[in-house]
Amino acid sequence: MKLIKTQLENIPEHLAIITDGNGRWATRRGLPRSIGHKVGARAIKTITEACANSGVKILTWYVFSIENWKRDKAEVDYLMNLFIKFIRDWREEIYRKGICFRHLGIKSGLPTELIDEIEITEEKTKYNNKMIVNIVLNYSGKAEIVNATHSIVRDVQMNKLRMDDINEITFNNYLYTAGQRDPDFLIRSSGEVRISNFLLWQLSKTQIYTTSVLWPDFTCEHLFEAFEKYKPFIEVYKG
Ligand code: IPE
Ligand code: IPE
Ligand code: MG
Repeated sequence: MKLIKTQLENIPEHLAIITDGNGRWATRRGLPRSIGHKVGARAIKTITEACANSGVKILTWYVFSIENWKRDKAEVDYLMNLFIKFIRDWREEIYRKGICFRHLGIKSGLPTELIDEIEITEEKTKYNNKMIVNIVLNYSGKAEIVNATHSIVRDVQMNKLRMDDINEITFNNYLYTAGQRDPDFLIRSSGEVRISNFLLWQLSKTQIYTTSVLWPDFTCEHLFEAFEKYKPFIEVYKG
């Protein structure tokens, strides 16, 4: 039976996805890894549309970690060019669909052309409110926390923040995800069961789902299968 979205009881408000397995998908077919990335990028567009139609409010894609710079230069160059083209080609469509585009990570170090595409898209879609799509690119969870700490210390030194006011809520305001709820559900494809330096602070209470499906093979059916396993986390206070 084909599952349709209305049959699902619970849809995560904030869904985060680690798109893993592009390289293996290509290698198994005797293709260069780059083809896996290209097909994987198409799946990101398809799944974004399905999420928007299902009522997901925030969708966060992990597409390039700080650690990924250690890969072959040719693969990294291919990925950077793919991101440039991907964001440029997608801009009009996400704008029309009411999606607000955000980049999470470090802009410095990225090709200027990519920074331009990111900034133009962020600016163009900033008043859209159907869904937020975060593209997590050149990102490290540890670096994000250190960066937040620097900003907090600076604000304390400048008397903009009192030490007594530093708590989990104010700390949130210094993260790239400031103003956004934490992910409710995390999907990682390709069978790996690792966080890989992704949203270390924000995932503290997130339900984690892994599937052996390699990212380029991931379809809407796989998404709905994952949603079936999602159980909203409800805090129970005793005493
Ligand atoms: C995920 O697929 C995409 C990126 C990290 C950019 P991989 O490239 O990690 O694919 P595998 O894990 O080698 O199969
Ligand atoms: C995680 O995949 C990062 C992204 C999908 C961007 P990796 O393939 O880079 O992670 P590891 O190296 O297996 O932990
Ligand atoms: Mg991988």
